[in-house]
Amino acid sequence: MLKDSYGREISDLRVSITDRCNFRCTYCKTARGVNYVERGKLLSYEEIERLSSILVGLGIRKIRVTGGEPMLRKGLPDLISRLAGIPGVEDLALTTNGFNLYERVDVLRKAGLQRVTISLDSLRPDRFFEITRSRDFEKVLRSISAAREAGLRPVKVNCVVVRGVNDDEILDFVQFAWQQRIDVRFIEFMPIDEDEGWQREKVVTGAEILETISPHFELIPREPANSSETSKNFTFADAGGGVGLITPVSRPFCGECSRIRITADGKIRTCLFSHVEHDIKTLLRSGASDQEIADFVVEVTLKKEPGHRINEPDFRAPSRTMSYIGG
Ligand code: 5AD
Repeated sequence: MLKDSYGREISDLRVSITDRCNFRCTYCKTARGVNYVERGKLLSYEEIERLSSILVGLGIRKIRVTGGEPMLRKGLPDLISRLAGIPGVEDLALTTNGFNLYERVDVLRKAGLQRVTISLDSLRPDRFFEITRSRDFEKVLRSISAAREAGLRPVKVNCVVVRGVNDDEILDFVQFAWQQRIDVRFIEFMPIDEDEGWQREKVVTGAEILETISPHFELIPREPANSSETSKNFTFADAGGGVGLITPVSRPFCGECSRIRITADGKIRTCLFSHVEHDIKTLLRSGASDQEIADFVVEVTLKKEPGHRINEPDFRAPSRTMSYIGG
């Protein structure tokens, strides 16, 4: 089992396959400014497959493919089938903004994708545009339905709640989850936005969200599926689907963190908020053996930070945002 120096078991890998995104969500990216990694600097699908299989050999059980927007990279079903084919991968998931998932969901499912998380922060087209600077609202809704119809389970929708932006839609989202029989996960706004517009006052805490929902919906706490679950989950008393609260700011879950990340340009990050990255691409391209790569990963994992320090007075935001790191 891959373990860090605090005894946490690392079983969860997040692989970003592109830093490009066709949405520019205000809580993540700046309005303009493109600074994309050149294609040749991205890990190839062969490299991602090899690295993932070495990591699975070390104890990784769950792989999530992310971006940027992973659906923008060509040949995604090919990568999915490569990853699904690695013996020992128990859970294979994708995070997407949903702009075209409805067109490709069956192909991805056939390739071995088990489930998806789709980001959606408003149920109002005009506000959706203000947040994402994209007009693809209807397409995202279509993708959510298509994912459910294709049998991907569970279908999760991530909603980043920002005070004064979309906190008046909490009940609408719960209603949406109830109707669609999906899981909506409310995420606290984290200081990892390119514009550095994060302020503590803009964070709507999980506790506040629960207080908003409770008078209107009967929520039943769900037992955690595993100890490293990032969200506090609830099901509806009278329907499938439910609500999750992800509280990295008000109630950090670093003590149970089981994740490491690989950026699209081949760096290992041991924390979303790391200030250091570990170059695995050079090693992959230098003819290193699987054993040498495994040894490097084991060593890097021992440097995993105890926690993200968002609530410490000397907190400094990481130099890359979610869209460059992989959510
Ligand atoms: N705070 C909270 N969540 C964020 N995400 C991106 N940026 C932030 C932020 N600053 C979310 C996206 C996506 C997930 C991978 O991360 O909405 O759903």
